[in-house]
Formats: sequence, structure tokens, C-alpha cells
Amino acid sequence: MAFTYFFRDLQTLEMVRDHVIPALRSRRFIKIWDAGCAMGPEPYTLAIILRENMGPTFRNVKIYATDIDESGHFGEIVNNGIYPKDQVKRIPKRIFEKYFKENGNPGHFIVAEKLRRCVEYQHHDLLSLVPIMKDLGLIMCKNVLLHFNEKERVEVIKMFHDALAKGGFFVTEQTQKMPSQVSRLFEPVVSHAQLFRKRS
Ligand SMILES: C[S@@+](CC[C@H](N)C(=O)[O-])C[C@H]1O[C@@H](n2cnc3c(N)ncnc32)[C@H](O)[C@@H]1O
Repeated sequence: MAFTYFFRDLQTLEMVRDHVIPALRSRRFIKIWDAGCAMGPEPYTLAIILRENMGPTFRNVKIYATDIDESGHFGEIVNNGIYPKDQVKRIPKRIFEKYFKENGNPGHFIVAEKLRRCVEYQHHDLLSLVPIMKDLGLIMCKNVLLHFNEKERVEVIKMFHDALAKGGFFVTEQTQKMPSQVSRLFEPVVSHAQLFRKRS
């Protein structure tokens, strides 16, 4: 259930780069919630894309990465940012060389400190329907909502809407359609990805 990998679904992340960064980069604080982050490849991939494209304003970004984590180990893995070779081998060479280095334990690589500073893990159950905070600029929730029934999906998306700042964004995976019960709360940003902007 916690299947994930670095640079998964790059097309959706490129939509974030092209549409979300320009809209949020002038904000003093850019708060992002990665809901259902698994062991961290997703929030760290997002952090890399933001750092590569935002220049100095990247220092204003915080990614709050959360998961229900039935194993009890995700917090340690995400916060330490150490991954074995087989999990980092898909990362493009230039990016890998820039943001990862061997950590002393052969075959294991640590994420650069500037990215680890930006990503903060918390345990969180989406079905509690209590947001981790409000005024978020972006909520990313990919490959998680499919595990919920329709009523749960609708309630979780309402909670996301409530947690977003005015003009904030919500992105989910390509195959996850916005339920009709909540579609009035968001406007689609593009036709070819599940990227939405909060209607005020
Ligand atoms: C398939 S992984 C997706 C990881 C990442 N978002 C990605 O797309 O690569 C699904 C994640 O959702 C988490 N999850 C499942 N139910 C959840 C819940 N109620 N609250 C928070 N996270 C949950 C699982 O623990 C798992 O890590």
C-alpha cells in the first residue's frame, strides 16, 4: 500500500512547476501538504523540482509530509532522508549528483540538507478529517484517495478545500477524478491533469 518511488508521475509534478510555482512564488510563506507521502520519495522529489525552479524563494517553502504509516518507521525514514541504492537509481544523474551523497553506510545515500530542512514529517490520518493546518498553498495527495470509498473521498476533499488558502491548489493523480459533489469548490487548472485551484 505504501508503494512509491522518486520522480513518480513526473507529468503531474511538471504541472505543479508550470502552474503552481508562478502563482505562489511571491508569497512570504509557501506551505505545502503532501498527504499520504509514504517513505518520502514524493515530498523530496517535489522539493527538488521546487528548488530547481524557484531560485532563492525556495527558502520560503515548507513541505509538511504526512502519512497514516502502519509500519511506524516512516517518520524516521523521511526525517533522516537516507535511501538504499535501488530506491535512488531512477533519479536523473545530474539531480542525483547535486542532491544525494553516500552517507558512510555503503550503498545508502542521504538527501542534501537543504532539502531535508524543507520537508517535515508528521503522522496523520486523513480520515480524521482534521487538517494539519490552514492557509496551505498546495495540497498534493496522490495514489491515496483511491483507497477510500466515495463518501470518504468527498469528505477528505472538503477538508482539503477548507485547509487551503485563498487561491490555493490541490493536485491528485491523473486517474483520480474530482467527485461531482465537490467539483463546485474547485476550478480545473489544466485539462490534462488533476490540478485544481480553490474557488473562493
Ligand atoms: C501508494 S502510497 C502513495 C505514496 C505517494 N503519495 C505516491 O504517490 O508515490 C499510499 C499511501 O497512503 C497512505 N494512506 C493510506 N490511508 C491513509 C490515511 N487514512 N491517512 C493518511 N495516509 C494514508 C499509505 O500509508 C501509503 O503510504
